[in-house]
Amino acid sequence: MTKARILVARAVFPEIIALLEQHFEVEHNQADEPWPKERLAGKLAGKVGAFTTGGERIDADVLAVAPGLKICANMAVGYNNFDLAAMTQRGVLATNTPDVLTESTADFGFALLMATARRLTESEHYLRAGKWQRWSYDMFSGSEVHGSTLGILGMGRIGQGIARRGAHGFGMNVIYHNRSRLAPDLEAQCKARYVGKEELLRAADHLVLVLPYSPASHHAIGAPELALMKPAANLINVARGGVVDDAALAAALRDKRIAAAGLDVFEGEPKVHPDLLTVPNVVLTPHIASATVPTRKAMANLAADNLIGFLVHGKPVTPLNPEVLK
Ligand code: GLV
Repeated sequence: MTKARILVARAVFPEIIALLEQHFEVEHNQADEPWPKERLAGKLAGKVGAFTTGGERIDADVLAVAPGLKICANMAVGYNNFDLAAMTQRGVLATNTPDVLTESTADFGFALLMATARRLTESEHYLRAGKWQRWSYDMFSGSEVHGSTLGILGMGRIGQGIARRGAHGFGMNVIYHNRSRLAPDLEAQCKARYVGKEELLRAADHLVLVLPYSPASHHAIGAPELALMKPAANLINVARGGVVDDAALAAALRDKRIAAAGLDVFEGEPKVHPDLLTVPNVVLTPHIASATVPTRKAMANLAADNLIGFLVHGKPVTPLNPEVLK
């Protein structure tokens, strides 16, 4: 029996390729070549399934070239690289990798908060540059974490994980804003209080962004929102590039309108706004919030299980547009 043909668009753990090869004829990209959109579309032509990451845009143009495509399994919880409406219209199933990365990503969000508040990278660069001559009472004084007010914008699973760490581990006063309010038992577990967006911006000592990117959340934090924040506040973005207006943020950091920022995601990444590279009061990391080996393996396995579950058994694990299954 001929095997169904699938594409794995980016390099991934070799055992995942081996697993997929048990079921499919796999074209992979273990050399991790960058494929511009037209090349990706050409590769998808003749395939029934695709294993993608957040970097591959799947939209109507791509789908038009690949009429046989039935499923795109994203190895990411975020799926703003998918035009979900276009996929649904063409009957293409979309899947993502929720849950398996929640705790590692929350760990990282908290690590970035701590690094930003306590000026870890700025002080390390100072030391490495040989500038440290002697201890002084005010050298690299940062902001307090324990007992401060943690604001969370976007209270999904990862936001709740960060809230639990702040409330239970560091005695923080947790406030949040979200499209919808959490059920009372979840609010109690997170020791989190629901507030309006303006109160969140005004009250947070540390504001962590964990909301998905969509046209509605584009520049959710721009100059007007930054102006409402306390001058001593820190901003942490582990959501998506585009949620923050990076040019406005760089200006606010330069002018000390807020104290500091910790950023794992950027508008137009892997490009980074040049002004963010020159201000000292920002911690920058290259989109690694879920990057632990066990978590990345769990994400890759879940994406593979979605392909196998759907194409072999007719049952995907984590469908985003289950209406195409009807
Ligand atoms: C990473 O950013 C993800 O969405 O999984």
